[in-house]
Amino acid sequence: MGFSMKLAIVYYSRTGNTENLVKMSSEYLKSRGIEVNVYKVKPLKEYSPPLHLNPRLIIDTLIKKGTNILLEPRDLLNEKYDMVIVASPIWFNRLSSPIQELLKKYGSMFGRFVILIVSQLKINCNTILKKVVEQIHVEPMLCINITVSEIRDKTMLMQRLEELVSIVNKALGILR
Ligand SMILES: Cc1cc2nc3c(=O)[nH]c(=O)nc-3n(C[C@H](O)[C@H](O)[C@H](O)COP(=O)(O)O)c2cc1C
Repeated sequence: MGFSMKLAIVYYSRTGNTENLVKMSSEYLKSRGIEVNVYKVKPLKEYSPPLHLNPRLIIDTLIKKGTNILLEPRDLLNEKYDMVIVASPIWFNRLSSPIQELLKKYGSMFGRFVILIVSQLKINCNTILKKVVEQIHVEPMLCINITVSEIRDKTMLMQRLEELVSIVNKALGILR
């Protein structure tokens, strides 16, 4: 008898790349027999362009390390998940401010969670993990980085998604 596995994917996306990746990942994980619920993180006040020059975005990301958020749907913490995948764009070498807020508020309640970061350039996941542990005081199991060009290349994307499935399986397998 196989185990049925239940995952939550919680994400923020400003320009759609992370959202696309989350949609494709959740379809893929579902096709592999994993139950997946997707939650969207919404800042109470969304950032307006030009994003790279938006002072509130810069301050929230680098200094305040957060911003007020809502979850859609809101029942994330009422459900029990085997693992939570937290997906975020990278802004100025940091997790986006809505995801920094999510981790500060709820990270300690997630149990096992992994971070999926979407960026233009390859990011050193260890640097991101270190910041999360030091600044937010929660400990993700691991970090996976997918670049925008990998999302757009179907063959590459399938490879990265397969890697994600095997990471999830391995992590849960070891812990069972
Ligand atoms: C304000 C801002 C800062 C960014 N900083 C970085 C960065 O430091 N390194 C990087 O590789 N990409 C950076 N990017 C690119 C984003 O990580 C990339 O476009 C990502 O796919 C955006 O995710 P989204 O489409 O889900 O919002 C930045 C983008 C923005 C808007």
